[in-house]
Amino acid sequence: MASDQLYKTKSFNLYGLEGISDKTIDLHLSLYEGYVKATNALQGRIAEFLRDEQVDQEEFPAYSELTRRLGFEFNGMVLHEYYFGNLTPQASLKPDSASAFLRRAEASFGTYDRWKTDFISVGKMRGVGWAVCFQDGASGRLSNHWVTLHEHGNVAGFHPVLVMDVWEHAFLLDYSPAERGQYINAFFSNVNWRVLDRRVTSEAPHLRVA
Ligand SMILES: [Fe+2]
Repeated sequence: MASDQLYKTKSFNLYGLEGISDKTIDLHLSLYEGYVKATNALQGRIAEFLRDEQVDQEEFPAYSELTRRLGFEFNGMVLHEYYFGNLTPQASLKPDSASAFLRRAEASFGTYDRWKTDFISVGKMRGVGWAVCFQDGASGRLSNHWVTLHEHGNVAGFHPVLVMDVWEHAFLLDYSPAERGQYINAFFSNVNWRVLDRRVTSEAPHLRVA
């Protein structure tokens, strides 16, 4: 199995977003492509260690380091696919009244505005990472979480529903570091609520439907 064929870079049509420039999208998509390549490369190198069906003692330090890095690169790839997948240039500011996501947010937080306040507040937390609204597949409940870098804070078995990148590369060409709040407002002008509806109702929402 060729390592460069494990994962393919997905394409996204995101030019013309509100408050997030095409230049930012180009930069961001090329960073994403780097995560796909790195994930494939790491998996390929780990597969080489496993070729003889054992990890020898002298191989263990390199094997361990590559495996640790896999969590960073792999989550970097997947979270970006969710992020780009929940944006669209033809967005509405809020989910419509029939939205399955809206019903889930209200059931989980009481009101949509309370859910949104929580999600935005997570996104404004200091640090490098992501705000992610997850769904617990067992209960259907939504909860918002901070993910440091790409791999610390993901909840095992929960499904990402809305993913917002708040690394500075996501907005630095359009806003200053202190203007993260303006970027978050712009993000909410471009959310594809229909994708969220599919993610909360799909039997396999972990599939990155877009
Ligand atoms: Fe990013």
